[in-house]
Amino acid sequence: MMGKVAFSLLLALALVTLGVSSGRKCVLSGLWKNELGSNMTISAVNADGGFTGSYHTAVTATDKHIRVSPLKGSQKPTSRRKEPTFGFTVSWTFSNSVTVFVGQCFMDDKGKETLKTMWLLREEVSSPGADWKATRVGTNIFTRIK
Ligand code: BTN
Repeated sequence: MMGKVAFSLLLALALVTLGVSSGRKCVLSGLWKNELGSNMTISAVNADGGFTGSYHTAVTATDKHIRVSPLKGSQKPTSRRKEPTFGFTVSWTFSNSVTVFVGQCFMDDKGKETLKTMWLLREEVSSPGADWKATRVGTNIFTRIK
């Protein structure tokens, strides 16, 4: 018969192997800031990997007054994993533009989390002839504030 200690060890090993417990995990939910000074809040990630949040950009390509805008995204794998990938869309409330971000949540040896992202910002243009200048591309690195 297997002893209690041996059973617990076996169970712990099985859970770690399945990525269910133990080990530090990079978590998307929380408050983040990027190198431009923009802030975003990401809600809890649901069972399907979906999340919502809000984005307060520090900069704009427009002459409009900046307002906090909603974001919607999903992470992969859907369950909590060590360093998940993700994508989200920000639907700007003060312009006719949309930004999509893709990235990965990384954790360093000290437990510090970083979101490394690339984004595409699409603005509205008045004709197909202006399509060439309608999309900007860039990168942002987010660190956790809370
Ligand atoms: C707009 O100007 O129409 C909307 C705001 C766009 C802000 C962009 S999105 C990519 C980059 N990262 C930020 O934090 N802000 C800019």
